[in-house]
Amino acid sequence: MSEAISIAVVGSGYVGLVAAVCFAEMGHDVICVDNDERKVAALQGGDTLIHENYLPELLERYRNTKVRFTTDLAEATRECEAIFIAVGTPQSETGDADLSYVEAVACEIARSLTSYKVIVEKSTVPVYTNEWIRRAIERNGVARELFDVVSNPEFLREGTAVVDFLHPDRIVVGADSERAAALLNGIYAPLTTGEYYTRPSHIEGVCNVATPPPLLNTSTKSAEIIKHASNAFLAVKISFINAVSNLCEATDANVEQVARGIGLDSRIGPKFLRPGIGYGGSCFPKDVAAFRSVAEQLGIDFGMLSEVEKINASQKKRFLAKVRSALWTLRGKRLAVLGLAFKGETDDIRESPAIDLVEMLIGEGCTVAAYDPAAIKRTEQELPAGAQLRYATDAFDAANDADALLVLTDWAEFAAIDLDKLYATLRYPIVIDGRNLFDPSVMQEHGFTYLSVGRPS
Ligand code: UGA
Repeated sequence: MSEAISIAVVGSGYVGLVAAVCFAEMGHDVICVDNDERKVAALQGGDTLIHENYLPELLERYRNTKVRFTTDLAEATRECEAIFIAVGTPQSETGDADLSYVEAVACEIARSLTSYKVIVEKSTVPVYTNEWIRRAIERNGVARELFDVVSNPEFLREGTAVVDFLHPDRIVVGADSERAAALLNGIYAPLTTGEYYTRPSHIEGVCNVATPPPLLNTSTKSAEIIKHASNAFLAVKISFINAVSNLCEATDANVEQVARGIGLDSRIGPKFLRPGIGYGGSCFPKDVAAFRSVAEQLGIDFGMLSEVEKINASQKKRFLAKVRSALWTLRGKRLAVLGLAFKGETDDIRESPAIDLVEMLIGEGCTVAAYDPAAIKRTEQELPAGAQLRYATDAFDAANDADALLVLTDWAEFAAIDLDKLYATLRYPIVIDGRNLFDPSVMQEHGFTYLSVGRPS
């Protein structure tokens, strides 16, 4: 068994909370700090507050034992060897990341720092943030030899966050000091030595056999750039296949065949080549804008990223045009919408293309009945039900008597829907699929008029 290390995680959002319970699962002792008292109370009581596979099980296992929740950052700083900052870095009006939460946490840590600590950036931050954190701590009177600041970006995806954290493709540790790098290497030792994978898994259904992930030691600046560049590259891949799907639509080619054909080239790879209504979520839109802004500030022309954003925005407009092409006029049409979350298996609606499309459809005078397995509660807060918008209790309730059904999120349960029942429920059997969840020939056999993305109908 590797050595247990005392770790504080500041921020209990997707990254912070998942990191906290996973570090406990790896054998460490964790204090999870959040300044929101209600959140802390909920977590102490076992409520994860977010929909994330396997998180409830791990929280139940470790809450108030190997993971304690508190609002007291000073105490956590005194007690722990490493302090991970996992607070939000929202997008500011100019497109830059707003780092005020990170700065506030750094200053608060500085005020209680009396013995050597390693402060770890886990939030997605622009290059040079490490230096700014160091300066902020020094400005608060802390001697340089009392701390190091390390960059350890997180690559987990929402929906598969726990599995991604414990079975990562790679771990990146950006440290400019050997002492700090050694501590971080120790924290991840259960994964990198493979020892964790020999233990019985606490997460039912997750195979614990894994190749130990490589840990890449880099400079702090390289690690910061790796995170932004990774997300930007994935966004490029999605916008690329979206643009190709438009070309396929114009030529009656099939984007699925094209994606398979290019993805089999190991230099390209098969993943992230699913076309759709554009990427969303709390990461890609914000990180592409922030990376573009970093480049601009450094005087570097990274115009490719603006093009990526342009293609992403145009995917929604193209989808709307597709709905219009199927229904002729939109005013007064009754539409069923399946999916509100920015992708399947999550209740997160931040920057969700599905929500944008619902708003656009309402703006066009449609009446929408929307269903999502997990995201209705969150959506209702932003987009209350009204004369033109109703939240349905299930997919068939949404489809009831609708002029067409639109698929906007790739939930697995939508792909498994009973097509005969759906056919009987809709007023007109028209399905416009923004996520390519169905096989066009199967839809045709069931009698649907079926439009999808980049595939002949
Ligand atoms: C993304 C990255 O995948 C993670 O590696 C990263 O850690 C995370 O951002 C972050 O920076 O925190 P996430 O936003 O959870 O993770 O979701 P993804 O699964 O990457 O999907 C992002 C968006 O792209 C979704 O709207 C999804 O529907 C869309 N997408 C994804 C496509 O349209 N096509 C694809 O082929 C893949």
